[in-house]
Amino acid sequence: MAKVAIIGATGNVGRYTALAVSYIPYVSELLLFGRPGREEVLHGLAYDLQDSFAARGSQTDVKFSSTPKDLEGSDIIIVTSGVPRKEGQDRIDLAHENARMISEFAAMVGWYAPDAILFIVSNPVDVMTAVALKYSGMKPGQVIGLGTHLDSMRLKWNLSRFFDVHVSEVHTRIIGEHGDSMVPLWSATTIGGISIQNLPEFENLPEDRIMDNVMNAGSAIISRIGATVYGPGDAIATIVRTILGNEKRVLTVSTFISSEIHNIGDVCIGTPALLDKNGAKPLAINISEHEVDEFRKSVEKVRGITQEVIE
Ligand code: 2OP
Repeated sequence: MAKVAIIGATGNVGRYTALAVSYIPYVSELLLFGRPGREEVLHGLAYDLQDSFAARGSQTDVKFSSTPKDLEGSDIIIVTSGVPRKEGQDRIDLAHENARMISEFAAMVGWYAPDAILFIVSNPVDVMTAVALKYSGMKPGQVIGLGTHLDSMRLKWNLSRFFDVHVSEVHTRIIGEHGDSMVPLWSATTIGGISIQNLPEFENLPEDRIMDNVMNAGSAIISRIGATVYGPGDAIATIVRTILGNEKRVLTVSTFISSEIHNIGDVCIGTPALLDKNGAKPLAINISEHEVDEFRKSVEKVRGITQEVIE
């Protein structure tokens, strides 16, 4: 049985993540963690979740804390805290602001729970994953970010609607930055196990329109309701379940790559990785020439921002 901690549990994503994670059968303890001064809100949230567990007959314990030592013994620590982008603020400013917060939390996790998996959700997620890796002092595979997992699921859903098949018949991946330079891997996309290029409908596939939908999903939701909540929460829960259950699924998370994809690396970025109880192991894969070019651009962009933020 496992202990899962959520740092930033009082935010929109943190709250729903707590609920989504509590449905995973391996989770016996859920720790809602926040900064000093947030105890009343954390307490209220813990109380409400406890009622949810009572209502469904769950034995999971829910605790709250702002004391770093209470992170000890966690199997996974999810970091959802971060400030959203303000009007007029560019991505780099946001990255600097969130990096200060993430570096503090990462150092705390490295100290109190060095064997845990550290799972970063805060944006810009690829850069924040690199910050967390550096300041936690943990091993690369132990530190992961939500990366392009949710983007990949958004693409999967769009393709299932276009081909009119059950979503589980679609396999696809988006790699690279969780942002404008993300790269859909059409070469790794199959419908019912058949490569998408071998299907007659492929000719009419509105690739650009579908990728616009996928890329703008986050901002389309944020502009209407202020934040994306259920999508990230359930995407996080899938990854947590895969790790805790040692399920060895291949999911597209942000993690440190050295040279796995055509010798491109030295960056934390969305990439297909084998997930088990030890964390993430990026797969060595071959992709099309065009995809390599696009991926290289995405890596250069993320590496540039990472260097600017970390150094
Ligand atoms: C999302 O893609 C905004 O990163 C957030 O849902």
